[in-house]
Amino acid sequence: MSFNPEKMDLPPRPQLFDFHGVSMTHYFTDNWENVQNFQARPDDILIATYPKAGTTWVSYILDLLYFGQTALERQTSIPVYERVPFLELTPPDSASGTDLVNNLPTSPRLIKTHLPVQLVPKSFWEQNCRMVYVARNAKDNMVSYFHFDSMNMIEPEPGDWKNFFQRFLDGKMVFGSWYDHVNGWWKKKQTYSKLHYMFYEDLIEDTGREIDKLCCFLGLSPSAEEKKQITGGVQFDNMKNNSMANYSTVPFMDFKISPFMRKGKVGDWKKHFTVAQNEEFDEDYKKKMKDPTLQFRTEI
Ligand code: PPS
Repeated sequence: MSFNPEKMDLPPRPQLFDFHGVSMTHYFTDNWENVQNFQARPDDILIATYPKAGTTWVSYILDLLYFGQTALERQTSIPVYERVPFLELTPPDSASGTDLVNNLPTSPRLIKTHLPVQLVPKSFWEQNCRMVYVARNAKDNMVSYFHFDSMNMIEPEPGDWKNFFQRFLDGKMVFGSWYDHVNGWWKKKQTYSKLHYMFYEDLIEDTGREIDKLCCFLGLSPSAEEKKQITGGVQFDNMKNNSMANYSTVPFMDFKISPFMRKGKVGDWKKHFTVAQNEEFDEDYKKKMKDPTLQFRTEI
């Protein structure tokens, strides 16, 4: 279903506010008590990202790795955002993320979150759950987020590109600062061994290699045939044409403005950043990204 304002009584775009030091909108805080008290199980797998870093891609890979062979009807009838529920989301007119997760019939349960590391419900740590974090270089991440906020009616108004660029640098985005997010999770990796930190750019460069690393982390050993099928099925064009993976069934996204599966590239930022913006960005980046062990690629 594409966006049809007549079919959906849409509330106005939400406003950002400060929530425990992180910019948020009510769609991600309305259900906070249930989110914070969420009871994780030891075999739950948490897929954590800053928005637009490759969440859907990795969610779909994990879903295929676990359930691709056993539950074929799942592939044709259940959209990825129901197979891998978004824990802290309370969307208009539908079930909250916590309800969706609590009703998942699968084991393990695959759970999506955009929460910065300090806001992750404590039971995930207590249960020693596996977590997969995906990070994407800030420039492409920002561009992807801009187009997403334009087409997604439950995101704040993006404003024009110039204004959005400044807001991103200031960390005034839903789920807060990209810089804090990627650094916070990176730091956590040093003390929490069940965290696999991966990069969007690496997935683009060699999807098969990154799936191998994921399998190693998860203790999975798919056959060569299965791996080939998965690697093919999750390529950008295949996901873009797959209504169970491309979000085309979400009523509050207007694909006429921008599709969810938009470009899927490294380096698209070059078409958006002016020379002056690029200089300002790089200058600011150096000040915020002090850890030499965390390196991103803005081209490959
Ligand atoms: S969300 O809304 O936060 O869950 O979005 P998320 O899934 O994290 O990010 C969406 C961007 O990831 C791109 N994407 C892919 N790129 C390459 N290959 C595959 N298979 C793929 N699947 C999703 C998607 O196109 C969005 O990036 P942009 O740059 O906007 O195209």
